[in-house]
Amino acid sequence: MWTEPVRNFCRKAPASLLIAVLVTVNLLVAGRNASAAFRDPVRARNAMVASQHELASKVGVQIMKRGGNAVDAAIAVALALAVVYPEAGNLGGGGFMLIRFKDGTTRAIDYREMAPAAAGRDVFVDSEGKLIRGEGGSEVGYRASGVPGTPAGLDMAFSKYGSKKFSWRELVEPARILAQNGFPLSKRLADLFKSYQTNLNAYEDSRKIFLNNGKHFEEGDVLRQPDLAQTLARMQRFGANEFYTGKTAELIAADMKAHNGLMTLEDLRNYRAVERTALRGSYRGYEVISMPPPSSGGIVMLQVLNMMERYDLAKMGYNSAQKYHLVAEAMRRAFADRADLMGDPDFADVPTAKLIEKKYANERAASINMTQASKSSDVGSGEVLIREGMDTTHFTVVDAAGNVVTNTYTINNLYGSAVTIKGTGVLMNDEMDDFAARPGKANMFGLIQGERNSVQPKKRPLSSMTPTIVLKKDGTLWFALGARGGPRIISAVTQSVMNVIDYGMDIQAAIDAPRIHQQWYPDEILFEPFGMSPDTLAVLRTLGHSMAARPSNIASATGIMIDTDGSRLGAIDSRSDGEAVGY
Ligand code: GLY
Repeated sequence: MWTEPVRNFCRKAPASLLIAVLVTVNLLVAGRNASAAFRDPVRARNAMVASQHELASKVGVQIMKRGGNAVDAAIAVALALAVVYPEAGNLGGGGFMLIRFKDGTTRAIDYREMAPAAAGRDVFVDSEGKLIRGEGGSEVGYRASGVPGTPAGLDMAFSKYGSKKFSWRELVEPARILAQNGFPLSKRLADLFKSYQTNLNAYEDSRKIFLNNGKHFEEGDVLRQPDLAQTLARMQRFGANEFYTGKTAELIAADMKAHNGLMTLEDLRNYRAVERTALRGSYRGYEVISMPPPSSGGIVMLQVLNMMERYDLAKMGYNSAQKYHLVAEAMRRAFADRADLMGDPDFADVPTAKLIEKKYANERAASINMTQASKSSDVGSGEVLIREGMDTTHFTVVDAAGNVVTNTYTINNLYGSAVTIKGTGVLMNDEMDDFAARPGKANMFGLIQGERNSVQPKKRPLSSMTPTIVLKKDGTLWFALGARGGPRIISAVTQSVMNVIDYGMDIQAAIDAPRIHQQWYPDEILFEPFGMSPDTLAVLRTLGHSMAARPSNIASATGIMIDTDGSRLGAIDSRSDGEAVGY
């Protein structure tokens, strides 16, 4: 009712007066329980899995009920998702696994894909300097894939950090059974296959498996994947390395060769998962642990959190224009740094330590004007762009002992490159698209990246995946989370962390709450439809922000929090499917 007067006031009032009024209003409402309107998380006494498919979550819970630790469960969940969540769960992709044991030991496994040896800087640029689109380009088809890292990453987790109460064969078995016997398709998954039929139809095995040979699937139909079951059976018999050196590797290399792909048997044999040192920072005294490069996620998140420490966000109120203005300004600066300064640390000099310093954040935030939006052209120096797929998936596992695994992995876009390798059931990634195919130019999300993320043989593309763990002030696990959604992953995870720490939300409320995204270029703030009041929007426009109501969702997250009584609280974003299951 009072929307129109407020709009008029916003149009006429100077920005400084506007901010003063907003601070007063926000002070009056800030004390309310921000999570009162949200649904409850799933509660369990002992252990919890939060993943984007109920069957995968149940697989993980069964492993833990039978004495497995969070790492064992995470391996079984990842393999099950490769079967029941083919849009993003995978063997043919890669990702990052962050593990923290109850004793505080923390491990970060990088199983990001690597560029094949034949992929050079201009591999996706034609003779006129234009990006190659379609087959032959970086988004779809045989040349779009990096060498998959998932089997190697899961194998490293198993051999170094599994409980040894389960054999590798036992952890693969639930996925093999799901692939062999099939599972009923939800309406969403059946419809999604149809929406991606143009790409999937172009590749024989993808058409056979996901489009039911052109007859299509309906809700409730059973999806069986016998080739994938055979691949999993070979990996049970010969170990995960079979994917890189056995029959599966030979099938991949042969199919690649037959279709002008880049990947060879040698590339597969040379793939290695690596351990990185987990990134550590803090927010208002709480330790925040995340993934270092080749993911940009941890650095960008810590940069934004460091800048936000200068401001009393709680006082400003959750949905205030003032808070959104500051968060967007911090994101603008951190994403500008991402564009210029980040890439695979094995190839490029990434100033990680400097970027996550509080002092650096203060210097970066000094140019934030409380009453005026910056222009992205005045922030940062890069003129470089990236494209990043949206179709990643995140899951989190906490076991009865208090060990936690938070894992994000991906084949990049929905259904990756759309290529299923003949005779394997393995859907391949299009992670080559996460490189800057033309450093300095914007990608399909308008995201800019630089030379540090140019294509080079055996290099890992820069990622936005942000598996994150936050500790209580006594050093014990508080919550862990991550998200899917390309660069918007970082915004979703960062704001969820702030929602818990600044606004006292539980994990479900923190993940469900409306959020924004600003990534330097395009110079605009994305907000979710119904996620922002017209009054707040009007104020942000008055401050000089360009506001864009898209996409419908800004990423989707999953996470687990430890309640004060020790219960595990599991949360799946209301923006996506999935289920938290515990016992
Ligand atoms: N492909 C999405 C990411 O790695 O961030």
